[in-house]
Amino acid sequence: MSDLSGMPLPDDAPEAGACVRVERPEDGLAVVVLDPPHRSLAVLDAPLIRDLEEVVAQLEQDASLKGVVIAGREPDQFAAGADIDAIDAVDDPAVIEQVILRVHDLFRRIESLRPRTVAAVGGPVPGGAYELSLACDRIVASDSPKTRIGLPETLLGIIPGWGGCHRLPKRAGVPFAMEAILAGKLYPAKKALKSGMVDRVTRPEYLRRVACDVAMGRMKCERRARGWRGWLVDRNPLATWVVSSMARKQVMAKTRGNYPAPLVAVGLVQAGARASVRAAGIREARAIAPLATGSICKSLVSIFQGSEAAKRLGKGSNGEAPSPMARAGVVGGGVMGAGIASSLAEKGVAVRLADLVPEQLQTALISHRKDVEKKRKRKRLDAAGGTAALDCLDVTTDVATLSQAGIVVEAVAEVLAVKRKVFSAVADAVSDECLLATNTSSLSVTAIAEGLPHPERVVGMHFFNPVKVMPLVEVIRGEKTSDAAVTAVAALALRLGKTPVVVRDVAGFLVNRLLGPYLDEAQRLFIAGADPARLDRLMLDFGMPMGPLALLDEVGLDIATHAGESLHEAYGERMQPAPGVERLVMPERLGKKTGRGFYRHSENRGEKPVLCDDLGSFQTSREAASLSDDQLVERMVLSMVNEAARCLEEEVVADAQMLDLATVFGAGFAPFHGGVLRYADSLGTGEVVRRLEALAAAPGIADRLGGSAKFTPAQLLQDLAGKGAGFHG
Ligand code: NAI
Repeated sequence: MSDLSGMPLPDDAPEAGACVRVERPEDGLAVVVLDPPHRSLAVLDAPLIRDLEEVVAQLEQDASLKGVVIAGREPDQFAAGADIDAIDAVDDPAVIEQVILRVHDLFRRIESLRPRTVAAVGGPVPGGAYELSLACDRIVASDSPKTRIGLPETLLGIIPGWGGCHRLPKRAGVPFAMEAILAGKLYPAKKALKSGMVDRVTRPEYLRRVACDVAMGRMKCERRARGWRGWLVDRNPLATWVVSSMARKQVMAKTRGNYPAPLVAVGLVQAGARASVRAAGIREARAIAPLATGSICKSLVSIFQGSEAAKRLGKGSNGEAPSPMARAGVVGGGVMGAGIASSLAEKGVAVRLADLVPEQLQTALISHRKDVEKKRKRKRLDAAGGTAALDCLDVTTDVATLSQAGIVVEAVAEVLAVKRKVFSAVADAVSDECLLATNTSSLSVTAIAEGLPHPERVVGMHFFNPVKVMPLVEVIRGEKTSDAAVTAVAALALRLGKTPVVVRDVAGFLVNRLLGPYLDEAQRLFIAGADPARLDRLMLDFGMPMGPLALLDEVGLDIATHAGESLHEAYGERMQPAPGVERLVMPERLGKKTGRGFYRHSENRGEKPVLCDDLGSFQTSREAASLSDDQLVERMVLSMVNEAARCLEEEVVADAQMLDLATVFGAGFAPFHGGVLRYADSLGTGEVVRRLEALAAAPGIADRLGGSAKFTPAQLLQDLAGKGAGFHG
């Protein structure tokens, strides 16, 4: 089904007129309610735009109107923005351009309505939803904590193309609009008011009434004028040029030019404040069309869709989320346990942290207090939330006192016997229903569960370091783990603001299993003479957040070596560690934690690490120095691609989308490539197989160093290549 000049209509699109309701609470006032029956939260999809056009046509004809309010069905349910699935489905730039122009026309008509128009917004108000509000004369926002307003389009590889690039700079000034659009940030109501994004905030229960009073002229609500700054900055070509050049430089430093959308947005915002609505609209439509149909947008959208799919993991097969966890225990107050306990407490879970060593507990408490204080200062927690977060964490040296916990997360030393002993003591203390989650990074969850009463409640909950920064949690399903345990742990991960991915209980689970061959290849190339600075730079240019050797320093050379040995034990020849790397590992040379690894790390936070000057002594040949940039990148990336194909073949994760999500959120795989398998699809599976075969067959560096087995193409890759198919269809 198709409408709106080729924009696909959802399968469940309702009848014309069903998505937008007009209420007439008094003479002269129309309240336009966005209330599509096929969506839990209104989305500016084809049916809703169609119905809004119809309603606006009626309002244009109504001479009796003094005020118009556009509102959501509830104060905290305005609209979720544009239809991202529809953007994903369209491949023709001309269709996108037509749709954008048509919506521009609609918004321009709203802007030109004679009666005063007021948007009554609340809850999530991202992208297109905020752009609709920008077309109104005034914006009144609910000050509920759920309210988040902004233009996050650049994070999806597009630009705010429904007027955001010119209406926001006109309203809130070029510098702020530049910042808001480039960061793609969503602002709470009070910040939105302060910056001029909205004109008034009010309690959710008064939102509709206040908006109606403003629309009818009974309540004053001035738009904050930019005053002299409007003339000196927004309307001054030299000043906007300066702001844009600075913004462009920042974007380039952050993205290394890999993301075109922010750069396009800079130009549009720069011109936006001075452009006519019509001209700016045409420019936005022309700019967005190639972006929305390009591979970067498709990749970023697929990650977004993957995150949405991950949210469903927190619900059981009946669609119900388990009741929220009230009490938790964490055993092991080291790097990981302290972070996990603090994160739980910040989300209001009453958590008791247990460790054998009282000093560890004190350190964990101090660090929790510091984190809460920081969040208070940054207004991420209000005073009450801060106090609650502090109250929610207490400590003990006796695991028997965890008896009330609904879940106990174990983060003690990575030794099977130690973990089993800890869980056995915990199982004696807690109820039979209490979940036992292990943060193990390399041991089998099934093995940890062995001999415990009710092994179906034992599940892996693998956080990444640093816990508060890394967005992924691998939820590991052991042989006996129940569906309910998996769902409950995924739900808890979501509550912590993390993205869960359910993974089978195999060595290295998913992310570490993929990072293994990649980091191994980087080390092989280094030992075979590749310049370490070049290896790291090439992978940064590829889009990774840090180079592989810098990552090894971050992880710790001892930990990485140990992980490499476990992978070798599990997977045999193809994971054999590079000969010679063990020479790098010395007690005083374990990476960042000892101040030295591949890099020398300064204690001063501002100082950048520099490569150690003795690295040449670990290189056994010069062969890899003559490889081209493309050859080096290919070896490192295809190592990961091939292993990812094996993981999918072995059903370590549910599907390619989940695998890609894990590689982006857990391994930092360049988001604009959309994940490891999407990257493989962009090359074509046939081409990947051809390149892998060439690498496996050539008596090259990897062969001499004993590593070419990892390049033998996975069966699934060969099958897909044979059919001319990709991982994503
Ligand atoms: P850590 O060495 O910093 O902390 C371990 C803590 O456990 C120490 O405070 C120790 O006193 C305590 N502990 C040991 N035995 C105990 C027992 N029987 N009862 C109570 N407390 C006990 O270790 P880290 O790095 O926090 O790792 C913990 C777990 O998390 C390990 O299984 C590790 O593999 C896993 N992990 C570590 C990551 C990392 O980057 N550090 C990343 C992901 C998982």
